[in-house]
Amino acid sequence: MKLLSRQRFLGLGAAIAGGAFVAARTLKPFSLISPQSGLALPKLPLMAVERPEPGLVTAQINADEAVVSVGDIAASMFTYNKSYPGPLLRLREGERVQLGFTNNLSEHTNLHLHGVHIAPDSDDPFWHGHPGWSKTYFFDAPIGSAGTAWYHPHPHGEVARQMFKGMVGAIVTEGPLDELPELKAAEEQVLVLTNTTLSGIEPPGYTFLEIDGKKGDWRLVNGALQPVWTATKSNLRLRLINASTARIFNLSLEGHDLHLIATDGGFIEKPISLKQLELVPGERAEVLVQFERPGTFRLLDGSEMLMSIVAPARPAPTPLPDNLATLPALNPAQATLTRRVVFDFAPPYGYGINGKMFDPGRVDFQAKVGNLEIWELYNAHHQDHPFHLHSYPFQVLDRNGTAEPFTAWRDVINVKPSETVRIAIPFRDYTGRTVFHCHIGEHEDHGMMGVLEVVN
Ligand code: C2O
Ligand code: CU
Ligand code: CU
Repeated sequence: MKLLSRQRFLGLGAAIAGGAFVAARTLKPFSLISPQSGLALPKLPLMAVERPEPGLVTAQINADEAVVSVGDIAASMFTYNKSYPGPLLRLREGERVQLGFTNNLSEHTNLHLHGVHIAPDSDDPFWHGHPGWSKTYFFDAPIGSAGTAWYHPHPHGEVARQMFKGMVGAIVTEGPLDELPELKAAEEQVLVLTNTTLSGIEPPGYTFLEIDGKKGDWRLVNGALQPVWTATKSNLRLRLINASTARIFNLSLEGHDLHLIATDGGFIEKPISLKQLELVPGERAEVLVQFERPGTFRLLDGSEMLMSIVAPARPAPTPLPDNLATLPALNPAQATLTRRVVFDFAPPYGYGINGKMFDPGRVDFQAKVGNLEIWELYNAHHQDHPFHLHSYPFQVLDRNGTAEPFTAWRDVINVKPSETVRIAIPFRDYTGRTVFHCHIGEHEDHGMMGVLEVVN
């Protein structure tokens, strides 16, 4: 059962649809349309917020079906606040957030605040938000939490489809470290990377065959195809979010290093220079770029162009910061236990963890507040599985026995076939029930998710 055989699914699909699915998969739909490329990079709209008293932020997010522009196409998408991607929520460390949510779709959905410090009771992935229902989410942006997070739907079985249709948005929290002169000197841009297809004027539906992970035809940056951004400064700070359902981006910028300064959980200790950065679904990273010569440089995913950036005519880059955050590495010797988390095929028909498909009524793991646990993630399957845990950030200890080169807080970590990745999770606060899962939307929807209960 190592190979979750494609044949098996082709067989099933054919049985269900009398072969029609197979044909649809090999032929491109004739109505597939390409948005115009080369337009100016859209800046994300800011989410309207109020600050009714010091330290309190209120805002409202609505799930809405809306016609939005994707390049030159007026596309019918699922959106947050009628924008694709959704509006950017900007917060300051120390603030408390009260976020209203209303489902105006004609199907059920909910909201997940991925990467913020939120209690499982508030960010409840089991909540079934029927059409017309509302809910209020509460969370803090604690001191030290500066970084890049995001939001997306989480109704089991519908996540991939709703995200593919457009439901994604960014959250940025700023703190004192953002005041470092070396960071202040950089021009900031939030880049939400999505991947969809427009068949006619809307993303097409799903077939059972796409259980493997549906990759769309268009890689979009802030909802635009191969946009152009004319930078005004010689240093850039890019906040990158992989908001695609299933595509792993291998990012590079022609002629330039990417200087990594932050992962999912915020700043690392010092910049790390990379030629290429792998960003898996759900994952975020922040990088600095220094332009030393004028020109137009392409941001690439492998050999595919995502966007181009025009450097200033007479660039004069400023130095990178020497030091960022101080991150004490977790000590695995203090762990109370080690759990094994195996990604593989699971009966009867889907993706699973430790041999079982997701069951919202079953608690797979129970952890205690105050404990440090080691989770040993093993991929026994033939596809990559980006592991994600809600509400409790972790540090990676090692990969196939090789220690991680630097300390970082994360909430997503890719596990490639046959790899073992060991992570350390401190359960510092919050009791309640939440989930861990593969962040390929289709894998999660088809069962690769488990339930964690944290108790006192
Ligand atoms: Cu971004 Cu449970 O997910
Ligand atoms: Cu999450
Ligand atoms: Cu997966």
